[in-house]
Amino acid sequence: MPATLRAHAYDDNALAIGFEQTISQPYVVAAMTEAAHVGPGKRVLEIGTGSGYQTAVLAELGADVYSIEIVEPLGKRAAADLARLGYAKVHLRIGDGYRGWPEAAPFDAIVVTAAPRDIPQPLVEQLAVGGRMVIPVGKDDQVLKVVTRTAGGVKTETMFDVKFVPMTGSAARQ
Ligand SMILES: C[S@@+](CC[C@H](N)C(=O)[O-])C[C@H]1O[C@@H](n2cnc3c(N)ncnc32)[C@H](O)[C@@H]1O
Repeated sequence: MPATLRAHAYDDNALAIGFEQTISQPYVVAAMTEAAHVGPGKRVLEIGTGSGYQTAVLAELGADVYSIEIVEPLGKRAAADLARLGYAKVHLRIGDGYRGWPEAAPFDAIVVTAAPRDIPQPLVEQLAVGGRMVIPVGKDDQVLKVVTRTAGGVKTETMFDVKFVPMTGSAARQ
């Protein structure tokens, strides 16, 4: 947490982390992690490293975590914080997460922490069969969705209304 907000670190709210971005509400981090069915040895892709908090939660559950952040200073700060706190095995990249991390695919789970207007097809394609993507979708009215890749296609379920920062980069140009 930025030093000025540390007193609020345990509040169940989203909080500002600079660069017009937020650390997600802890309840929503928990709900998304649970819905993604993350566990030891699972390959998990996160879009939107932000503070690195969700990255650390995924790593604590024993997952092999890949995380992409588009805002370079945030990505660098999260990398330094995660290294300092002993999360040596997470794979971090600065760039546009819309296209995913094809060289590391397929993933058992994809956790997206910024909202595109539509579900990015490259991310669907990087899910393993049986894999689950948890993603906020929409502009002003957003819903959290779970997309499961099946042998024959995809199954999409809606969880609840959410309010995430917009996905930037290619998603904003769609
Ligand atoms: C809600 S915030 C961060 C939440 C983060 N998981 C955490 O625990 O702090 C969403 C993040 O997604 C990033 N983001 C937005 N669009 C992106 C994109 N196309 N690719 C990668 N990251 C993106 C933002 O810069 C921001 O840091």
